[in-house]
Amino acid sequence: MSAPAMTEADAAIPSLKAFLAAQEKKSLLRFLTCGSVDDGKSTLIGRLLYDSKLLFDDHLAALKRDSKQHGTTGGDIDFALLVDGLEAEREQGITIDVAYRFFATDKRKFIVADTPGHEQYTRNMATGASNSELAVVLVDARKGVLTQTRRHTYIASLLGIRHVVMVVNKMDLAGFSQEVFDRISTEFSEFASHLGFQSRVAIPISARFGDNVITRSDNTPWYHGPTLLGFLETVDVETSLADTPLRLPVQWVNRPNLDFRGYAGTIVGGRVRPGDRVAVAKSGRTTTVERLVTMDGDLEEATAGDAVTMTLRDEIDISRGDVLCAADSRPDVSDQFAAHLLWMAEEELLPGRQYILKLSTSTVPAQVTALKHKVDVNTLEQLAAKTLHLNEIGMVNVSLAQPLAFDSYRENRDMGGFVLIDRFTNATVGAGMIEFGLRRATNVHWQALDVNKDARAALKHQKPVVLWFTGLSGSGKSTIANLVERTLHAEGRHTYMLDGDNVRHGLNRDLGFTDADRVENIRRVAETARLFVDAGLIVLVSFISPFRSERRMARELMGEGEFIEVFVDTPLEVCVARDPKGLYAKARAGAIRNFTGIDSPYEPPENAELVVRTEDADPARNATAILSYLKANGYIV
Ligand code: ADX
Repeated sequence: MSAPAMTEADAAIPSLKAFLAAQEKKSLLRFLTCGSVDDGKSTLIGRLLYDSKLLFDDHLAALKRDSKQHGTTGGDIDFALLVDGLEAEREQGITIDVAYRFFATDKRKFIVADTPGHEQYTRNMATGASNSELAVVLVDARKGVLTQTRRHTYIASLLGIRHVVMVVNKMDLAGFSQEVFDRISTEFSEFASHLGFQSRVAIPISARFGDNVITRSDNTPWYHGPTLLGFLETVDVETSLADTPLRLPVQWVNRPNLDFRGYAGTIVGGRVRPGDRVAVAKSGRTTTVERLVTMDGDLEEATAGDAVTMTLRDEIDISRGDVLCAADSRPDVSDQFAAHLLWMAEEELLPGRQYILKLSTSTVPAQVTALKHKVDVNTLEQLAAKTLHLNEIGMVNVSLAQPLAFDSYRENRDMGGFVLIDRFTNATVGAGMIEFGLRRATNVHWQALDVNKDARAALKHQKPVVLWFTGLSGSGKSTIANLVERTLHAEGRHTYMLDGDNVRHGLNRDLGFTDADRVENIRRVAETARLFVDAGLIVLVSFISPFRSERRMARELMGEGEFIEVFVDTPLEVCVARDPKGLYAKARAGAIRNFTGIDSPYEPPENAELVVRTEDADPARNATAILSYLKANGYIV
């Protein structure tokens, strides 16, 4: 029997194998393209894909067809169509998401993150930048360096990109003028020189016609630098994460049976072998690595990027969020740090508000305790600010509900990069890069006191608690709170009243009525109420406290059963009609700004312990209802 005839496909197999093996060996460069709308990003990427011959014939046929139909190049191949996949984008002629594309040349493999140019998509750009090694910043030769160019370059540097290529595109429309190119590259270089890039080059190109993209252009005889692809193929971006200290953030504890306990996660720094000494970052406990288990058997060595399950010689307490690290080179552990923060939400940053912070495998409540400055992206100047708006970048101090292990973002992006999440909407509102840990609270220890809350409360024969009155201005909070306190006092209870108008004359006299100031107002009052509860007192708090977030924060500051939310539910029309201080009239006339209920929001409680209505009941009856609640629930006997 003769051997079956070889088909064409069979014949291709050895070379395919060789091809894949060759691909394996090539180094990989991840880069990001950014620029403003219409700078020609998509065309450039399309050109790179096309000229690196990774397009198949049927794609090409479709492209030629599409170029006639949708193209903006008058029948020539429109490379942007290759890249702008989404129908909606075609219609609008813009790119709106982060798209990752792969291509390869003989020398290197590439992953390109193509991010949108519109300012409102800065967050996508940040996402793309966070896992790229190099940024290609496009500038339109006719427009030069724009605010957007500076913003993107600055964000790229903040996100750890150390190599930047500025391409001046559309040189064909600027007559391939050296003078234009020199002017733009000088301006760019003046700006970018402050950003700590390791390499910085400028290249004049025409993405549409291919000048200096892959082949050197005859139109720019005055330019002697590399072509774009030539540069991308050869730039040295080696930063081996494997050579940094070991970091394994524990994703989950793998415990299939009593005999096996492994800590699973992806190594984000360093290398490790069985027998190595490791430490648990937070507790400081040390032990020795026993095995490195994977789906394909045990490893002799694992390095950054590997997903492993590590088993240890000793039984120590480790859970998700812990970081296993080199015993002799540990991350920082603190509940405060300084960081750069890129704000990505329509709603402004509110220092003092609690957000959820996610860093590596940990999730903890966190607050921005100070906004040191914001950065003017045009001049890199530091400006004083009370808040950050969409796309603004600031330097902040962050305080965490519990300590975390981290490194600076510069040392390790995975151990130093975090996001902030809104507690109610679950939206990601900020992206942060840790600069350094802060030691304040760590060096200030809790003083153990002999006389404690229980002792103080026992002496007063009462259970300390906060009665938190919330409601619109004029709803009757203070009137009712005052009656409740009077009765309690007459009965011999120990009380204290914190009232918005009064506290704003002293402790909070520096605060106004912007959202940010209200958040800080409530934070201070909640902390003060907590101290009074610790003193054993029944504390009455009467503040509009318009935001759910801060009322929740106040609730969480107190112990179980120590927070009673009293919603004084008086409709706005009734408050306006009462207008005891004449403030609604002024607000309506525009004489007072940010007035709650008029041009500043009030978020009614959803789960208040007590709701009192004041329209048809007199304040004394409301007060009696509250006192009955205190008796029924054992606060007073
Ligand atoms: S809160 O929103 O930050 O909780 P707070 O209870 O301290 O407000 O102060 C509210 C009191 O300040 C109101 O009762 C009113 O007398 C006075 N006030 C002055 N300007 C405003 C304003 N713009 N909005 C609300 N209250 C104001």
